Amino acid sequence: MAFQNGELSTEQLLHAQAHVWNHLFSFINSMSLKCAVQLGIPDIIHNHAEPMSLSQLVDALSIPKVKSHFVYRLMRILIHSGFFIKTDVSDDEEKESYWLTPACLLLLRNAPLSVAPLVQLILDPNMTQPFDHLSEWVASQHHFSPFEVVHGRVLFEHLGQQPGLNNLYNEATASDSRLLTHVLLRDYKQVFEGIKSLVDVGGGTGTTAKAIADAFPDVKCTVLDLPHVVGGLEGTNNFSYVAGDMFETIPSADAVFLKWILHDWNDEDCVKILKKCKEAIAVDDKKGGKVIVIDMVLDVQGIDNEVRETHLFLDITVLGYYNGKERTEKEFARLFFDAGFTSYKITPAFGLRSLIEIYP
Ligand SMILES: C[S@@+](CC[C@H](N)C(=O)[O-])C[C@H]1O[C@@H](n2cnc3c(N)ncnc32)[C@H](O)[C@@H]1O
Repeated sequence: MAFQNGELSTEQLLHAQAHVWNHLFSFINSMSLKCAVQLGIPDIIHNHAEPMSLSQLVDALSIPKVKSHFVYRLMRILIHSGFFIKTDVSDDEEKESYWLTPACLLLLRNAPLSVAPLVQLILDPNMTQPFDHLSEWVASQHHFSPFEVVHGRVLFEHLGQQPGLNNLYNEATASDSRLLTHVLLRDYKQVFEGIKSLVDVGGGTGTTAKAIADAFPDVKCTVLDLPHVVGGLEGTNNFSYVAGDMFETIPSADAVFLKWILHDWNDEDCVKILKKCKEAIAVDDKKGGKVIVIDMVLDVQGIDNEVRETHLFLDITVLGYYNGKERTEKEFARLFFDAGFTSYKITPAFGLRSLIEIYP
């Protein structure tokens, strides 16, 4: 039904304007977070070991005193977005003290489960620029992804030519793997029961496979990734690296692990990857191995609005990077059956992501 803006009541009109503005300026949430991480504010307050006043924080930041009011305003928005709490409620900004929320503990630089490298990668201009070009990409016959519109080649090729960005990418994905593997090995160890060998396909620099190899000394773990990712890396007793292309050959194993892989690819490529996985687990196998996937499942039961919104953010993000997509259960099931698998089980295990076991 067509309508003119003038037909809206004043309340509707101003509410509509506020809604547009909220979304227009929501990038400021991301940029404020990036600024705090770059300045090391979470670490400074954490190292202080007790709530820190604004003036103590400004002193520790070694920034000009004249910028003190900026720090107050930065902390105000980050309190609003849930990264810090104010421990002294006062009208006098000099008397405010700040402490960290659980989300902020993940932003400490050297914490074992830090996701600070992911903040640096996702908000790096190399990675945000493609989203300035979505409309250009959608109208173009020639470009594979918005990333290619900006950088002239697809992301994995670009990383192979840009050592700095490659390191940032590998460290960011490794940081995610540290956190996820922590939960996997603490709460879902049974997924590896009966497995004697595992290959982590597209396993990056090996964080996940190494942790699995350490937790299960009898399991032979292999990481398959591109030469610019694993070249020169050394394995251990039950842990090794293979440089290769998952579209060509995947080393045979009882289980293939695919974390954060399928969402990078279109349906046709996913089916090719899954067929290669099926070949890899079929060798000498009478009992049948399995493929273990960790990815988001859209519209999975029990998610709250924030998780759903994050899923939708990621769906456009992987489109921008790789022309990839996040999928519903129905979309995943079609890929699994098209690749020749007969059944699967989804466990919504990791908050944003699910554990999917696929059987031949
Ligand atoms: C999103 S990252 C995920 C890394 C790791 N699985 C994780 O979750 O931290 C995708 C990985 O796939 C690797 N990759 C891309 N194309 C590949 C190919 N043709 N063969 C093997 N690995 C590939 C990339 O180098 C990268 O490490």
